[in-house]
Amino acid sequence: MKIDESTALVTGANRGLGACFVAELLAGGATKVYATARNPQTIDPAVAGDPRVRILAVDVTDQASVDAAASAASDVNLLINNAGVLGFGGPLEGDIDLFGRDMHTNYLGTVRVSRAFVPVLESNGPAVIANVLTLIALAPVGPMAGYSASKAAAHSFTQALRAEVRNRGITVVGAYPGGIDTDMLTGVAADKAAPEEVARRIVAGIAAGDTVVWPDDASEGAGKVYLGDPIQLERMLAG
Ligand SMILES: NC(=O)c1ccc[n+]([C@@H]2O[C@H](COP(=O)([O-])OP(=O)(O)OC[C@H]3O[C@@H](n4cnc5c(N)ncnc54)[C@H](OP(=O)(O)O)[C@@H]3O)[C@@H](O)[C@H]2O)c1
Repeated sequence: MKIDESTALVTGANRGLGACFVAELLAGGATKVYATARNPQTIDPAVAGDPRVRILAVDVTDQASVDAAASAASDVNLLINNAGVLGFGGPLEGDIDLFGRDMHTNYLGTVRVSRAFVPVLESNGPAVIANVLTLIALAPVGPMAGYSASKAAAHSFTQALRAEVRNRGITVVGAYPGGIDTDMLTGVAADKAAPEEVARRIVAGIAAGDTVVWPDDASEGAGKVYLGDPIQLERMLAG
């Protein structure tokens, strides 16, 4: 896909990786970027003031807001499913409501937004759906058990969707970052990639026509392990 001919929509565009996607797409010459957020007023006024930016309210857990966005943004040919939440908790003691919130946002939110936009993307094709997953969609981290499961579900959906829409002019990309230095991992001591770099590598992957993107050095190394031996990655992440 040519980024400088794209009209993109990014969920969770008000902060973290989502804000970096908007900046990267604008820097790459995107024709238009729909920057969406639960609360549009949280989008940086400097970004909102760019003539190529349109602001929309989208909560990925709210069908009405997603449907309204699909109607308003009928020219989109690049959808980036970025919005996400992380509830910490292990497999036995983690708060089951947090497991549910992660599932509703990370998995069902991705399903909901993708379904709403497939007709739009098909009519504007060739088009791309890029889903921001995580390395730990492929093998879990125990203290993030609910989050890992929600992203594993989103990974499976990504694969199912890829096959379903490949003959409809839509390429489905899965991106599998390692730790990223955003609010999501505040207080967690870990190697974290800069969100600007992760956004840059995912957008570069989209431009190159990749369907799987390892967008930082840690995920690139771990991805090689996974591709060679998935059980080895499970052991690595289990510590
Ligand atoms: N940080 C990491 O280490 C890491 C690693 C791998 C993958 N990821 C993935 O990268 C993506 C971006 O995360 P981040 O690191 O940028 O985290 P972040 O800084 O916490 O940002 C999360 C974004 O998602 C939005 N969001 C949450 N629930 C939403 C909902 N129901 N509807 C619409 N937007 C919603 C948030 O909006 P509000 O401001 O309204 O809360 C915010 O814009 C997520 O999918 C995350 O799982 C992150």
